[in-house]
Amino acid sequence: MPLRLPCTRWLALYLFSSSVLAASPDGVVAVSHPAAAAAGARMLAAGGNAIDAAAAVQFALNVVEPQSSGIGGGGFMLIHLAKTNETFIVDSRERAPARARADMFAPEGLPMEFPLASTSGLAVGVPGTVRGVDTALRRWGIKKLADTLAPAIELAEHGFRVNRFLAADIVNDGGRTQLHPETAAIFRPGGVPLAEGDWLVQPDLARTFRLLAAKGPDAFYRGQLARAIVEAQQRSRSELGAAGQGRMTLADLQHYQVAIREPLVGHYRGWTLAGMPPPSSGGLTVLQMLGLLERFPLGDATQGYGFGSPKTLHVMIEAMRLAFADRAVWIGDDDAVAVPRQGLLHPDYLATRAALIKTDRRMDTPQAGDPAPWDKTAGQPKPSRIKEESPHTTHFSIVDRWGNVVSYTSTIEFTWGSGITVPGYGFLLNNELTDFNFVPSADAAEGNPGANDVAPGKRPRSSMAPTLLFRNGKPVAAYGSPGGATIINSVLNVTLNLIDHGMTMQQAIDAPRLSVTHATGKASCEGGQTFMQPPISTATLDALRKLGHAGLGEAGMEGCRETIGSVQGIVIDPSNGAHRGAADARREGAVTRLRAETASTATRH
Ligand code: GLY
Repeated sequence: MPLRLPCTRWLALYLFSSSVLAASPDGVVAVSHPAAAAAGARMLAAGGNAIDAAAAVQFALNVVEPQSSGIGGGGFMLIHLAKTNETFIVDSRERAPARARADMFAPEGLPMEFPLASTSGLAVGVPGTVRGVDTALRRWGIKKLADTLAPAIELAEHGFRVNRFLAADIVNDGGRTQLHPETAAIFRPGGVPLAEGDWLVQPDLARTFRLLAAKGPDAFYRGQLARAIVEAQQRSRSELGAAGQGRMTLADLQHYQVAIREPLVGHYRGWTLAGMPPPSSGGLTVLQMLGLLERFPLGDATQGYGFGSPKTLHVMIEAMRLAFADRAVWIGDDDAVAVPRQGLLHPDYLATRAALIKTDRRMDTPQAGDPAPWDKTAGQPKPSRIKEESPHTTHFSIVDRWGNVVSYTSTIEFTWGSGITVPGYGFLLNNELTDFNFVPSADAAEGNPGANDVAPGKRPRSSMAPTLLFRNGKPVAAYGSPGGATIINSVLNVTLNLIDHGMTMQQAIDAPRLSVTHATGKASCEGGQTFMQPPISTATLDALRKLGHAGLGEAGMEGCRETIGSVQGIVIDPSNGAHRGAADARREGAVTRLRAETASTATRH
């Protein structure tokens, strides 16, 4: 049953008018775990700003949601400074070591199996989170690194109660918490997986955080800890032998640098979005989809559109397929390979792509387009291989009393990353390099730039899409999601829910999502039982099946069984400056609001 929502002219008003969880002028923290939300709120209550709170949240998440992000990984922190109205990104994406080579995941032309490659040291990228958080703090924070580490140190030393999400991820770990003794010792003490309600203390991690608090980020990138990282990533799965050993050296760690980037800015129905530029595909792909969909009146039920209607879902699927076809060929780290950003977002190019969308039938599998006429850096494309992507990572959003905003997505890539815990230091190493193409796709004759092929120092293509929404030049909402390539679609779903369907942030987060991450177009969608909104109806699914859409199950059946993403968002009401937060029940989402030095938390799970 479609949602009943107010008509279009009231949409902007409605987005700001309904406070579902928390309203405050003093700051809001929306995170996927209440203990991490509390860590951020503590910084705000102690006079810190959104950047300080983000640092504290990230470190606390390493303790309470260690399977999703941490200092062994990287991420993208989108920062908006209220005073100067500037928005930029601290890119702490992991980088390939200097000895990385294009064919390292396919040594004899055949791609390694993902489960083997991703649990071997070869997959470990040079971690960026510590340098990224420290850079943000030194430039724009008020607090010291040590202050922001304090809540995480307490959580790791005193422990916390394992929630059902962590417990489930330990049980359904694909072996990752069992492969290496240091990881098993933390999450499967005595060989028994931690269960919901168990108390987890992490003394090694607490010591690592104390070291960083005392000595600063160089303690991570040089010296004993750096040596332990290099040694740990030399582990390989026996099936791969020496080919699976990591190639990172002490020099790679010493030379790791974050990048401060301009956001990618685009427009949709009078709203402005600031999102992630390459090396993430998040911003470009979301903006491409919006550019394609702007041609359809998605909010207008009188024309057969409106939230959850077959017509709306059909054009969403087609836009996803077209944008993912382009993403597969054109997007990678454009510090290493030119990405035709201009062409991919040019209205005339998008018009040629949108013309492929027919409202009465599903298009054949689309190839990547050719943005060359609109962008001098492009050539003739050849699609890259499709490979497995991770459903994990984490996102949080923060606004402080001054109106500074942070929208931060971070990751160790797959759930549990590489599964390798640095011995004696208690944190997991990422497997981010498996976000590169396993088989090199560069082909000069065919004009394929190999945008996401492995190269020394290069960053693997990401899907992370922390997003900031503006109205009349002012930030009004920030959000993002975990979920590998589905991140892009979660952000798209929420954006359409806010702008076309007039939902509040909480409704936009709760609504069932739809996702397609490949041009071939197998769709996945969410059931409604867990969420506040009604599910996509069987009649709607049948209409989509009739159009030829795959992945939705049997005719006449409820075929939506996925859980897609976990969006944490904040809203700033331009009329009175009130801050609201909205959390996602797909994880233990929590919103903590600050009001005159007191904090209160609402969780949704
Ligand atoms: N590894 C998940 C991402 O970067 O999108």
